[in-house]
Amino acid sequence: MTHPTNQTPFGTGLIVRQHSPVNLESPFDQLDSFLTPNELFYIRSHFPTPSLRAEDHVLRIEGDVRNSFTISMDELRKMPSQTRPVTLECAGNGRVFLAPSVEGAQWEFGAVGTAEWTGVPLSALLERAGLAESACEAVFEGADRGQPKITPAPPGEVLYARSVPIALKDDILIAYQMNGEDIPPDHGFPLRAIVPRHFGMASVKWLTKIRIVSEPFQGYWQTADYGYWAYENELPVLRPLGAMVLKSSIARPRIREVVKAGEPYTVFGAAWAGELPVAQVEISADGGVTWVVAEIIDESRPGAWQRWKFEWQVPTQAGSYRLMSRARDSAGNVQPSEHDKSFGTYVIHHTIPVEVFVK
Ligand code: MTE
Repeated sequence: MTHPTNQTPFGTGLIVRQHSPVNLESPFDQLDSFLTPNELFYIRSHFPTPSLRAEDHVLRIEGDVRNSFTISMDELRKMPSQTRPVTLECAGNGRVFLAPSVEGAQWEFGAVGTAEWTGVPLSALLERAGLAESACEAVFEGADRGQPKITPAPPGEVLYARSVPIALKDDILIAYQMNGEDIPPDHGFPLRAIVPRHFGMASVKWLTKIRIVSEPFQGYWQTADYGYWAYENELPVLRPLGAMVLKSSIARPRIREVVKAGEPYTVFGAAWAGELPVAQVEISADGGVTWVVAEIIDESRPGAWQRWKFEWQVPTQAGSYRLMSRARDSAGNVQPSEHDKSFGTYVIHHTIPVEVFVK
């Protein structure tokens, strides 16, 4: 696999959604390589980036285990490692398209990216710790902290922490490299969790502690924030957001781009899903009346997006046209046409029309 960093064209950069703490969006229209270059990978941080030194950094594993232990970066790097491409998508990606408008970072299409992550499987660390019978979840704790915004919020500072079911332990990487380099500071240097197929909030950056618990963790970042209303016996119950969902997005053309009448235009984008692989992507150039199958470019790899393209013969008739993409998974499920309100300001995966002007 080629290293994408050198391919970054001049004049590209991230889009500022919030200056401090830093929240930057990837320019999704520049989706050219399967791997997103580190410099173009979106940044989603709730608090300022902590300044950590690899030489001093340690990871503590404790809780419902037989042998709690602390491990240094040097020791971690000596353990057998794995390298895997994983797509991270912020659960709020696409929020700007919700109407009426809602609070929160106004992401367009670009709070998503794919990198090759290198690290130690969580299962290797848990094997060394020896899980207790009662172990149910691993709580990842980050080194960043501050006063969260979404209410109800506890008084004082909260550190960023998120749990995952122990059942995911073979898939999760405790990563120290991103696209072959040390993870950059804003992406979690020197150590972060990478939870494939789950929304980005689970991939805790600046990892300091893994705590094993025997009951589902009910922390701030999976209840007050990054939670959703599930219905059990017709009653709403608050549950933590988890797996990403079936989605495709158009990278090119851009919204309101002017395209030349009567000429071919390569419509380009990416599709990804959580639990099941993407089986097909379809494109409509008439606002969803008729659909044609697009060509999927990348091979299917668990937890990673696939780029697709469609050669559009632009009509000779000038005017405004609405392009749409919709993905279908291996079980035949199709991307919805409306946002599901039980997810509030998160999980925005309905088809979003891209209006273009033909001239
Ligand atoms: N980890 C910590 N410690 N603090 C954070 O604010 N943000 C989460 C997750 N991990 C966050 C974190 C969210 S919401 C997302 S989408 C991803 O990190 C973004 O990862 P990135 O900034 O490397 O793209």
